[in-house]
Amino acid sequence: MKTLVTYMSQTGNTKKIAEAIYGELEGEKDIKPITEVKDLQGYDLAFIGFPIMQFDIPPVVKDFVSANTSGKKIAIFMTHAVPEGFEAIHSWTGSYEQAAAGADILGKFDCQGELAQPIIDMLLKADDPQMKAFGEMGPSTKGQPDESRVQKAKAFAKEVQAKV
Ligand SMILES: Cc1cc2nc3c(=O)[nH]c(=O)nc-3n(C[C@H](O)[C@H](O)[C@H](O)COP(=O)(O)O)c2cc1C
Repeated sequence: MKTLVTYMSQTGNTKKIAEAIYGELEGEKDIKPITEVKDLQGYDLAFIGFPIMQFDIPPVVKDFVSANTSGKKIAIFMTHAVPEGFEAIHSWTGSYEQAAAGADILGKFDCQGELAQPIIDMLLKADDPQMKAFGEMGPSTKGQPDESRVQKAKAFAKEVQAKV
C-alpha cells in the first residue's frame, strides 16, 4: 500500500496538518506540495489538502483534483480562518465535491488555521464589509491549528487508512 499526502499551503497551516497526517501513515508514503505532483499513478490512496480561499477550493487544487482523482481513493483536508462551527463553512468546505465527483472519497477533515498578519492588514483596509469583518476576526485565529487540532488530524489519518 502506497499513500501520498499532497497539499497547497501559503503560510504553513495546511502544511502542518499534512505533516501530522503523513506522520501517522503506515506503509510506503510520500509527502509533496501539489505543484510537484504530476498525477496519482502508483498511489493506492491520496490525501489532498488546501486552504479555503475566497470561500472556495483554490483554482490550482480544483484543476488538480478534476484532472487526477477519477476512480482514485482520496481523502480531503482543509484549513480556514473561521472557526469550525461557522455558519457558511459547509458550503465552502464542500466546494471540492464537484471536482472530485469521480473519486472514491474516504474522508474529509477541516480545521481553523491562523490568518497571517499581512493578510489581516490587507483585509482591514478592504472596502467590502465582509472582508473587513474577516480582518477583525484575524487575531482570534492566532496559533491555529493548535495541538488539539493536530491530534484530530492524526486520528483522521488513521481512520481513513483503515478503510483501504
Ligand atoms: C487570499 C485568501 C483568501 C482567504 N479566504 C478565506 C475564506 O474565504 N474563508 C476562510 O475561512 N479563510 C480564508 N482564508 C484564510 C486561510 O484559509 C487560512 O488562513 C488557512 O489556514 C491558510 O492556510 P495555509 O497557511 O496553509 O496557506 C483566506 C486566506 C487568503 C490568503
